[in-house]
Amino acid sequence: MNEQIVILDFGSQYTQVIARRIRECGVYSTIMRYNAPAAELDALGPSGIILSGGPKSVYASDALLPDPAIFDIDIPVLGICYGAQLLARFFDGKVGPSAQREYGRSTLSVTDRNCRLFHGIPERFKVWNSHGDLVTALPAGFIAVGATENTPFAAIAHREKPIYGLQFHPEVAHTSYGMKILSNFANGICGCGRNWTMRRYAETAVQEIRNQVGNERVILGLSGGVDSSVAAVLLHRALGDRLTCIFVNNGLLREREPQLVREIFRRHFRIRMKYVDASRIFLQRLRGVTDPERKRRLIGRTFVEVFEGAARGVGNVRFLAQGTLYPDVIESVPIAGNPAAKIKSHHNVGGLPRKMKFELVEPLKCLFKDEVRRLGRELGLPEAIVVRQPFPGPGLAVRIIGEVTPKRLRMLRKADSIVLGVMKETGWYNRIWQSFAILLPVRSVGVMGDERTYEYTIAIRAVESQDGMTADWVRLPHEILEMLASRIVNEVNGVNRCVFDITSKPPGTIEWE
Ligand code: XMP
Repeated sequence: MNEQIVILDFGSQYTQVIARRIRECGVYSTIMRYNAPAAELDALGPSGIILSGGPKSVYASDALLPDPAIFDIDIPVLGICYGAQLLARFFDGKVGPSAQREYGRSTLSVTDRNCRLFHGIPERFKVWNSHGDLVTALPAGFIAVGATENTPFAAIAHREKPIYGLQFHPEVAHTSYGMKILSNFANGICGCGRNWTMRRYAETAVQEIRNQVGNERVILGLSGGVDSSVAAVLLHRALGDRLTCIFVNNGLLREREPQLVREIFRRHFRIRMKYVDASRIFLQRLRGVTDPERKRRLIGRTFVEVFEGAARGVGNVRFLAQGTLYPDVIESVPIAGNPAAKIKSHHNVGGLPRKMKFELVEPLKCLFKDEVRRLGRELGLPEAIVVRQPFPGPGLAVRIIGEVTPKRLRMLRKADSIVLGVMKETGWYNRIWQSFAILLPVRSVGVMGDERTYEYTIAIRAVESQDGMTADWVRLPHEILEMLASRIVNEVNGVNRCVFDITSKPPGTIEWE
């Protein structure tokens, strides 16, 4: 894990995408705040720096500026969009508003065939822009290496030093050869090998876990989701029986979920597991509760209580492990009008027993989700776990509108398993972010056979998303919608109507609550 590239975050929506692309080049990447002191950055010993894009103008009074001393560290620098404009500002060039705000595609013509950034790339290719400002005069010591219709300085390079600026976004998929450009930077110009692999990561992580934990014992709340599952197997590899997983059945799980989790972790991986069936207490407390926030709080509190009880039963434990991921620990740059950071917080409270005096072990905290899945495969987790869609902590309770009752849970479980079954059989499950059923507490009239019915409605939600922050509904083919509706109405007792949710997020949320 020694070679790495640091990305300074100036608030671009693409910062994490840059970090992931660099890792796809086999090079570890770290995101730091835009104003990280040069000494702190230098101490990491990175092989290169990338300056991300950002929403501001580099001349704005509140422009986000890096520590100028970073340019004295003798390593390659790549500025992307706002990052390129920063180079112009710091090296005495000029930046101005472009005559036409450039959003979307344009064609780049490489004007210097010797530029190492463009090795092995055609002379003209499509690039993706998203900016209002442009470099309008070359910074001192720089030359232009690429131009678009809109600007002769779409790509610039220093004459002597390995400093580059790109007006377009090589990290987005719409830029052809974007990965090649980033690889030319990371593997070529910065000279990093392709050493960041999940096999190596697993070896290093096992060692680090052992160093941190010594001879002590660790507990982990296992949910059956991708993150806690991968953490469990990784910790087990490092610690064997000194790891105990606690799996709480809150009565709000999917059909056969408790069996599946026990089968995989206890039987197959032989991981010590404490299985607590607390469904009765959860369902008792949920009786008569209809307000979504109250439901959530009650479930969260009860979880902590049950978990603490189970943890005490494990005995003398010093460490609590968690499947925290990198996006949860990146300190995000606050940008006015960007609500994303705020939205995220409520999901991460997830019932952590804060009061308990544990030290934390977080073996996934520098990984992105796609890397966690790859690590899971590397560790031999079955595909059924590795490719799972997200499932909320409060479980089916947030998918039953109004009161949660055993009867409604039975209906929703059945409908949910039909949705998952159909999505998997038709190959849609792996292509999208989430697909699930919601039970609505309203009844409407229908007719089945010769009889008039008066029963519940199931809503189906299927969304595409990168990170759950925004989402669009999936245009499922009509035949699949038809199959879903007819199977649900035929097979789920008490349901006579099926609707499909065509709301994006925002304004809708993904879950109905
Ligand atoms: P919303 O409904 O806020 O959901 O659009 C965004 C994503 O978060 C998931 N979600 C949760 N995940 N605990 C979780 O671990 C929760 O309490 C929770 N609530 C929502 C939701 O499924 C979606 O993927």
